[in-house]
Amino acid sequence: MRNLIPSWVRVPIIFFIIFGVTEYVIDSGKQPAFIKYPAVLLFLLLVLLILIAIEAILGALENVMLHKLDEESKVRFLAEKEKRLQFSWINTIYTKLVGTSKPIEEEGEIILDHNYDGIKELDNNLPPWWVWGFYASIVFAAIYLLRFQVFSGPTQIDELETELAQAKLSIEEYKKTAKDLVDFNSVELLTDASDINAGKATFETNCVACHMVDGGGGIGPNLTDNHWILGGDIKSVFKTVSEGGRSGKGMIAWKAQLKPIEIAQVASYVLTFQGTTPANPKAAEGDLIGGADTQAPTEAETTITDSIN
Ligand code: HEC
Repeated sequence: MRNLIPSWVRVPIIFFIIFGVTEYVIDSGKQPAFIKYPAVLLFLLLVLLILIAIEAILGALENVMLHKLDEESKVRFLAEKEKRLQFSWINTIYTKLVGTSKPIEEEGEIILDHNYDGIKELDNNLPPWWVWGFYASIVFAAIYLLRFQVFSGPTQIDELETELAQAKLSIEEYKKTAKDLVDFNSVELLTDASDINAGKATFETNCVACHMVDGGGGIGPNLTDNHWILGGDIKSVFKTVSEGGRSGKGMIAWKAQLKPIEIAQVASYVLTFQGTTPANPKAAEGDLIGGADTQAPTEAETTITDSIN
């Protein structure tokens, strides 16, 4: 290495290798490790300093050595070094790829005998990179022809369909683990016992003060009847719990305290109250939604009954 690459290239290369390794080894989440952990930044700076120091020392040693050499070896050494700095290996690779063309003096040997308005053509060798690229494309074409035409490999449509099917599966998979993504548009009634139980727990910690354990209502409306002020389908109930009721009524927006999945669970639990008979039902409020009015009488009806009595 040392003979091939000059130090101003060597230092950054080694530094970036070490940088890459630290980033790979240290788990720092989305941020780069050297931003998350300032110690890493310090370490990298130290590494850089040490690398530069090593180069400086090597350079100094070389200088000392140079002074000890006699004139002849000095000249040879410097010439050698000069060559090194010219990246002779890159030159070699370059010539191998581009090939050699005839020097101008010998061009007469390869000139073709046609002539268009004074424009002549040389029959140079094709550059090796081009020739090899051409051979590679022939091989590729042969394999391609066999695979897709002779042995009828998958068409682009087939590939698209496989990818779409795979994507669908991944989306399903993702949705399963990302229940938290629900909002009132995408929410669906949860029926799993575990979800209902979780909803019950949430309800009993947060909601019973106003809605009672059995949903019969108190400060908040009765949740067991099929009268709803704000809508009785899962989407509406989710929205009510998440965004709160009409302002000033006392039903706050719970989205600040409950996660979306918890709201979906508690909303599903609330809907299990439908058709049950609470111990102390509050008079129905809001519009009758779905089914016959078999539940508690509406506020208006109660008033009528009261006045009759
Ligand atoms: C501070 C008392 C209070 C608490 C606590 C409370 N609510 Fe309410 N809730 C109300 C009031 C008052 C309303 C009526 C809102 C309106 O009229 O706009 C209401 C309305 C509702 C409605 C809509 C009823 C309808 O007829 O449309 C649902 C559903 C509901 N609450 C569920 C919950 C859930 C679930 C919780 C617990 C996370 C909860 N509430 C906590 C007071 C409360």
